[in-house]
Amino acid sequence: MLLYMHIPFCDSKCHYCSFNSFTKHHNLKRDYMQALLRQLEYELERFHITEYQITSVFVGGGTPSCVEAEVYEPIFAYLAPLLSKDCEITFEANPNSASFAWLQGIKSLGATRVSFGVQSFDANKLRFLGRAHDPKDAIQAIENAHKAGFAHINCDIIYNVKGDTKELLQKDIAQALALPIDHISAYALTIEENTPFARGGVQSQEDFSYFVRDLIPFEQYEVSNFGRYRSRHNIGYWQLQNYIGVGAGAVGFYKDKRYYPTNDLFGYIADPLHHSVENLSPEEIRTEKIFLGLRSCVGIDADLVDKHKASLLCQEGKLICQNGRYYNPNYFLADEIALFLL
Ligand SMILES: C[S@@+](CC[C@H](N)C(=O)[O-])C[C@H]1O[C@@H](n2cnc3c(N)ncnc32)[C@H](O)[C@@H]1O
Ligand code: SF4
Repeated sequence: MLLYMHIPFCDSKCHYCSFNSFTKHHNLKRDYMQALLRQLEYELERFHITEYQITSVFVGGGTPSCVEAEVYEPIFAYLAPLLSKDCEITFEANPNSASFAWLQGIKSLGATRVSFGVQSFDANKLRFLGRAHDPKDAIQAIENAHKAGFAHINCDIIYNVKGDTKELLQKDIAQALALPIDHISAYALTIEENTPFARGGVQSQEDFSYFVRDLIPFEQYEVSNFGRYRSRHNIGYWQLQNYIGVGAGAVGFYKDKRYYPTNDLFGYIADPLHHSVENLSPEEIRTEKIFLGLRSCVGIDADLVDKHKASLLCQEGKLICQNGRYYNPNYFLADEIALFLL
């Protein structure tokens, strides 16, 4: 079972970001974490979780490094007997707040992986994106994570940003690769509604996806994810495995239902068990499996799609058939292949 924990606090709001996070009310962090523990206890019972069944924990945000490592202690103490021996435990972190002490703290809680929101090593690009760190902070944070003993370090990069050039992106990726990282998540900028970028009419730039992909010497195992290994949490999502979501706005999924707790910080602290439920039809589940499978190395079960259409794509080299599954050799074409197969 996968577990996602959402930390909805950020030091500042980046110009592109629509994730559920708050730059105010940081005085509520401890109350929030207590509410999160209450929801966790409830969900573990609802999902019938027993010893060693949790195989991955992902602490995401928002900014998990905004919350002191010791504040997570009660949660990890509670989880300890439920985690598998080789459980993957990832914390997202921002370079400006992930101090060496914080990194050591989460390492002693059991974290196996840290994922830094670097976005770029170019000072002007970072300013344009509205980030709270400069290139030096990012380099220092990654080196500190290595010193703290993390073997698995991810670096998030954003491309297709106004002002991006091949030279700039080449420098960004080269700088990332010069650091002790073994995973890169390279995201094409999406202009999300109700963000400063959307309001200011900022557009994403010419497409550099193939250029960026070819610069990264790790396996591409999803549109945006490249690694010397495959993150178990990521793979689980793309396989549409069940997952528990705890925290304000953290979605959970079980069989054919999605659970949505409130997004609102005050509402969540007052009643962390309140949620709405979305029922997914078999057709909706099939659609999701096709989109997720084609965007990643997971592939799709041959029985999910029309054999005639799939074999046309195989003849054109746009799908590969192996052991009763179809695999997509070019993740950037996933959506158009999925639309053809649906
Ligand atoms: C959930 S965010 C949180 C990570 C962390 N707070 C940080 O920003 O450093 C995870 C990643 O999603 C990516 N991201 C967020 N909004 C995006 C957007 N509009 N377009 C492309 N990538 C985005 C960024 O690379 C970010 O690091
Ligand atoms: S990108 Fe990260 S730091 Fe920036 S607002 Fe979004 S969650 Fe917060």
